Amino acid sequence: MKESVQVHDLTFVPMIASSEIQERINAIAKVLKMRYANKKPLFLGVLNGAFMFAADLMRACDFECEITFIKLSSYRGMTSTGNITNVIGLSEEIKDRHVIIVEDIIDSGKTMNKLIPDLKDLAPASIEVAALLVKPDAMEHHVDVAYTCFSIPNDFVIGYGLDYDGLARNYKDIYTLKK
Ligand code: IMP
Ligand code: MG
Repeated sequence: MKESVQVHDLTFVPMIASSEIQERINAIAKVLKMRYANKKPLFLGVLNGAFMFAADLMRACDFECEITFIKLSSYRGMTSTGNITNVIGLSEEIKDRHVIIVEDIIDSGKTMNKLIPDLKDLAPASIEVAALLVKPDAMEHHVDVAYTCFSIPNDFVIGYGLDYDGLARNYKDIYTLKK
């Protein structure tokens, strides 16, 4: 892990090491196996932020499963705009499928609050949410997160898929804004 990273105008310091992330992912994959083995679940990754988490989570799952992605957006820079628009639509049929939404971070909860009812309209067999990070103190809408890798304080974080204005998604560890 780097001692600090500079992204645009801001400095970030280490928060969660990649080894800890992988440990949590392996633990969650074990729980998913108990619930989903023989159900051929469909992981539904939310782009762009969840691409890395989705890849590692799926790789940790040794049972039949599928993956697809959608793209939504409510963030510009460091603050949520609140306007969630479906950018890339769902290409898979989810009727009667067991869907596991894979999200990088649950912040205000706006994204999930819009997405989950939209998906339920398509009559999946079940829907659960797996999130890399949850910021409980930022939540404005209740979101039932079945699988959480880490609960974190209400601070801006980057790395492991999470960006600050497009940059820093490539770091394998998670960094938080330096105070
Ligand atoms: P929500 O709709 O407010 O829950 O926001 C969820 C989305 O905002 C996430 O999927 C991220 O893309 C983005 N986001 C929220 N907090 C952070 C953060 O600390 N760093 C980077 N992106 C974030
Ligand atoms: Mg996201």
